[in-house]
Amino acid sequence: MIGVTVLGSTGSIGESTLDVLARHPDRFKLVGLGANRNVAKLAAQVLRWRPPYAVLADENAARELVQALDGQVPETRVLAGAQGLIIVYRWTHDMIKTQRVMPGEMNFAMAPGSLPRTGSQLYYSKEQREVAALRKNPVPATAESIRKGGDLYVIYCTPCHGASGTGNGLVAAKFVTPADLTNPELQKARTDGYWQSYLSVGGAVMPSYSESLSAEERWHVINYVRTLAAK
Ligand code: HEC
Repeated sequence: MIGVTVLGSTGSIGESTLDVLARHPDRFKLVGLGANRNVAKLAAQVLRWRPPYAVLADENAARELVQALDGQVPETRVLAGAQGLIIVYRWTHDMIKTQRVMPGEMNFAMAPGSLPRTGSQLYYSKEQREVAALRKNPVPATAESIRKGGDLYVIYCTPCHGASGTGNGLVAAKFVTPADLTNPELQKARTDGYWQSYLSVGGAVMPSYSESLSAEERWHVINYVRTLAAK
């Protein structure tokens, strides 16, 4: 059972929220109602829901609410002003704060040296990037590999790195500008192993792709990224 406080309960979003709560009485318990100054509507909601708390930001309105309720709902405590909002706020349940797994987010770190049960490649942590960089690319850069890598690049990498690889993706504009993957100096300085490890464990802000791409797919993507080098 989740306790819920609806702040702004007299507005249209608040009313829709109460509708949802009304449909799932087994899952949610209304703990508080909060509004700015609409006494009449809040009074009606208090009568209907009888929550432990009702708050009005406007202190005069809160007094009017007490009068309007006229002792009919003794289980509801009427609070006023910022202080009242603070008291009921602790009951707020925000979906953002619940447990969830987001795409592209690494939700646990494997112990260094772990090996997947299915075989495949050894897991190197971010700190072991230099060791990971020494690995040779086990996937030959055939036309087929580059094609597969290119398809995956379009899906996973263009938002930040851009179709060209220069780092002009739509997300990058609002995020951190990524490295220019077409830069010949960079292409020369980095081994395939180094870059593949970047996809495996992520960078400072770049997410890890170890869950969305298999180890082999990550090598295909690197084979494709090699073709982006500025000629
Ligand atoms: C959310 C944006 C974002 C996405 C999506 C993203 N990257 Fe990155 N990438 C970055 C940023 C920012 C950096 C540089 C800073 C850092 O390491 O976090 C970076 C760095 C890199 C580097 C290291 C460059 C170097 O310094 O040698 C490589 C290689 C790379 N990305 C490839 C990819 C590939 C391939 C994909 C798709 C599988 C991808 N990135 C997806 C943002 C992103």
